[in-house]
Amino acid sequence: MNRDLGINLCRVTEAAALASAKYLGKGKKNDSDNIAVDQMRAMFNYLGINGRVVIGEGEIDEAPMLYIGEEIGDMSQDDVVDIAVDPIDGTASLANGTSNSISVIAVAPQGCLLNAPDVYMNKIATGSKAKGVIDIKKSTKENIENVAKALNKKVSDITVSVLHRPRHEKLVEEIREAGARISMVEDGDVLTAIATELSDGKIDLIMGIGGAPEGVIAAAALKCLGGDFQGVFAPSDSKQVKRCLKMGVDFDKVYTIDDLVKGDDVLFAATGITDGTFLKGVSYTKNNMAKTQSLLLRLPSGTIRYIDSVHKLNQKLDQK
Ligand code: FBP
Repeated sequence: MNRDLGINLCRVTEAAALASAKYLGKGKKNDSDNIAVDQMRAMFNYLGINGRVVIGEGEIDEAPMLYIGEEIGDMSQDDVVDIAVDPIDGTASLANGTSNSISVIAVAPQGCLLNAPDVYMNKIATGSKAKGVIDIKKSTKENIENVAKALNKKVSDITVSVLHRPRHEKLVEEIREAGARISMVEDGDVLTAIATELSDGKIDLIMGIGGAPEGVIAAAALKCLGGDFQGVFAPSDSKQVKRCLKMGVDFDKVYTIDDLVKGDDVLFAATGITDGTFLKGVSYTKNNMAKTQSLLLRLPSGTIRYIDSVHKLNQKLDQK
């Protein structure tokens, strides 16, 4: 893929973050999501790619824009790409004015991103130093001990991030019994998965059940970072089972990072909406200006870019 596409993906996540951050703490999940989707979709038109949404806002009958299968950009271009988007990962965090909400995109050549149904997935992920030592089929204790060994850390210094959900009661107990620390988050397991590589040891491992689409997006980021990810689909009701069957998902299979994201040509962009573990959220400054911080990752180079932008909102509006 053209590496210059990366900065343009960043423009897309910036636009969604800038628009949706206005809703910080306002309790309006749908309104913030709608505006993020609108902005993201509109910005995609400037990209000059020939893309197809594989992870998006839902099925064609559920979402007017960025639905699974939607074709985006210039269909005459030869290089066709898969696009995975989450205009806001952490809509509840944004609505409540809490941390870890981001706008995010991953892009890879056609057929490289798993077309995952919007169901739950049991996940385990870690950064590059512990790549190869996690195994979702092993016990919580074994995984923590193996990661501790790989990181040359005491088990008691290992921090596992878990979504704060009743379904994780047993997992939390197991982590406590193993002797590790827990960072419970309300929302946003894409950012916490990336934090296993980029938070300077604040988070070493993520475990537990979250969204499968977010799993593919997190796997794309970790693949660029040299980290590791495994996921097992965990449909929670008959509707989710149906969706999995329709999309040809294998319930017994452990999906490795290479099953979720094939090849070594990947672009990943995320912009903070609310402050997160390692990415700042949008701030509105004087004279109708705003600041954003974004993360841009690329394979095969493995380059990690942090992009701090200052947006002159008046001029942006004038340009349209
Ligand atoms: P959205 O804001 O995109 O809905 O996702 C937020 C999130 O916390 C994800 O990061 C996570 O994978 C998923 O929700 C967990 O689902 P649930 O809130 O149903 O437990």
